Amino acid sequence: MRTYLVTGGAGFIGSNYIHYMFRKYENEIRIINVDALTYAGNLENLKEVEDRDNYTFVKADITDKDAMMKIFKENDIDRVVHFAAESHVDRSIVDPEVFIKTNVLGTAVMLNCAKEAWEKEDGTFAEGKKFLHVSTDEVYGSLDDEGGYFYETTPYDPHSPYSASKASSDFLVKAYIDTYHFPANITNCSNNYGPYQFPEKLIPLIINNALHGRKLPVYGDGKNVRDWLYVDDHAKGIDMVQEKGRIGETYNIGGHNEKQNIEIIEIILETLLEMLPKDDERRKFISKDLITYVTDRKGHDRRYAIAPDKIKAEIGWEPETMFKDGIKKTIAWFFEHEDWMESVTSGDYQKYYDEMYQNR
Ligand code: NAD
Ligand code: DAU
Repeated sequence: MRTYLVTGGAGFIGSNYIHYMFRKYENEIRIINVDALTYAGNLENLKEVEDRDNYTFVKADITDKDAMMKIFKENDIDRVVHFAAESHVDRSIVDPEVFIKTNVLGTAVMLNCAKEAWEKEDGTFAEGKKFLHVSTDEVYGSLDDEGGYFYETTPYDPHSPYSASKASSDFLVKAYIDTYHFPANITNCSNNYGPYQFPEKLIPLIINNALHGRKLPVYGDGKNVRDWLYVDDHAKGIDMVQEKGRIGETYNIGGHNEKQNIEIIEIILETLLEMLPKDDERRKFISKDLITYVTDRKGHDRRYAIAPDKIKAEIGWEPETMFKDGIKKTIAWFFEHEDWMESVTSGDYQKYYDEMYQNR
């Protein structure tokens, strides 16, 4: 039975990955989820798996080397899947330091602990051990409106403190691969959407605001483009890279689903009206009138677009969920989990929202 150490498994993508892995492998694997439970981590996301005998949760910070080493000493870890990070660009513009701490130092700690646990006396690594670093397409910088794609060979050119911290963490992983022949892969993925996404990110924020008749804030001219991927397709890609990828390689994961932000908002509004019952009161206020253009994000990257040619050719991964289906599934999930949205938007969220959007 393979043992996985998942970092950041109580966040958006990490929790979807854990659900995906238990659906796929059931009792053939064991998962240890280590998460510091920051504002973005939520054990509610894992309620359905918390009683499984082959699942363990450890509350700890990935920058705490003793706590991480203890996990490696007490368990024979076969796979590390490293999601834990500060992940929101706007927060990184206001408060960059925690991004450097978690994303850079935290990754260094995870790499060191795995190396210490897996390295043999002759400097090679125990058979079958693998580390997967989950990264982002933002490390490649920004494309212009005219075209072009991010390939694995595209030079790094990060612009925000968030993407700079992720780029630094990628370079650390690459250094371990080159220096020690450390058995790792990196995946650089485009924008994800789906269940359990925290409503600081565009799609859940727009769904939640529209359902409450609040303004829908559009940064700049609304024509920035992102390449949207349904989160289950990302989870599947991560598993396929870890099992079938060539050790030491980087794989880009993306949806070939480029859309301007304003298009995304219009699709959400149309889909909400299509899905809400005919007599639902909220139909009265859900309309394009809620769209409000606000001051642009500082250093706002114009366009991201992934070329997923390598992962398709070498591993056979392709995005499976069409955006029109993925957004319906996502909205249906939010309809069924209004209590989840309520609980994550109570408390500190209101303060965050006011600071980020008031006077913008
Ligand atoms: P998220 O913010 O929803 O979740 C991050 C998780 O990490 C949370 O559970 C949080 O509690 C935990 N965490 C934060 N700091 C920690 C620390 N010091 N120690 C232990 N745990 C800590 O993020 P997400 O959107 O699920 O992203 C997960 C990973 O995927 C990140 O590495 C991110 O860079 C990458 N990524 C995200 C996207 C996206 O669209 N969301 C796309 C590509 C790559
Ligand atoms: O590309 C992958 C990245 O996607 C991940 O690495 C990040 O962790 C993830 O947060 C995401 O980054 P973005 O900055 O692209 O996502 P966000 O949802 O914050 O914003 C998407 C676009 O929408 C972006 O162009 C900014 C814009 N936006 C966002 C918010 C929150 C708005 O216009 N209004 C908003 O209120």
